[in-house]
Amino acid sequence: MKKILILNWKMQLSVNDSCALAEEINNEFDNLNLDKIELGICPDFLSMHKISKIIKASNIKLGSQDAFWYEKGAYTGEISPVFLKELGVEFVILGHSERRTHMQESDIFINKKMKTVLENNMVPILCVGENFEERQNNQKDLVIINQVKNALNNIDLENLKRLIIAYEPIWVIGSGQAIESNEAQETNVIIKQTLLDIFYEKGIELNDENFKNKIQILYGGSVDSTNVSNFLNEEDIDGVLVGGAGVKFETFCSLTKAIN
Ligand code: PGA
Repeated sequence: MKKILILNWKMQLSVNDSCALAEEINNEFDNLNLDKIELGICPDFLSMHKISKIIKASNIKLGSQDAFWYEKGAYTGEISPVFLKELGVEFVILGHSERRTHMQESDIFINKKMKTVLENNMVPILCVGENFEERQNNQKDLVIINQVKNALNNIDLENLKRLIIAYEPIWVIGSGQAIESNEAQETNVIIKQTLLDIFYEKGIELNDENFKNKIQILYGGSVDSTNVSNFLNEEDIDGVLVGGAGVKFETFCSLTKAIN
């Protein structure tokens, strides 16, 4: 399995700027030496259709920043997972802390979305992580374990093809100050063990090989060119979810250089 680099452009770029950046990345892709990396871009919804065409012939994968749990119907303002699939979306970020905070997304909502995304044969990128207060109160592990368990409640794990989980400590997102890679490594091991327990309870035993083929655990939160290789060199960090460092071509290039 290749290591993964997912760019989350959030609501940072206009449609024109998103498309221009996608064009630049697409045109320069062969020079970025990313053959050992799986690259996914999650633009805003308005840019998605155009970007799907820009990157169509490339190895760059299209991701979505969210999806609704119903496929179609009278749900004003929502984004259908079926329509996303139609555009060629492969990954869907779910439960990002910004949605949990600003849109009051609960674990119940996230669980419903997980089901629909998997049913539509896309790969969920489930974001989990503690806020600063939870960390100070030594609740970090518990918070993360519960988020993982709740998101996977009643999910058909028997037929799971692929799942990505991103550990993102909320208090470092956008701060310019990531946590140490060894701490992220330790947390990813906890997430891995939680998943193994969940699978085991369902009677599914996964060996290391099977696990790696189905599940990747990423780190996200102020990843940039100065720290990206530390994270990617950790054994249980299978990739990174990048916000700020991925919205400008120059910083993106520095990031890819650092990866190489
Ligand atoms: P950041 O965002 O890289 O700007 O910290 C990461 C994220 O929110 O996924």
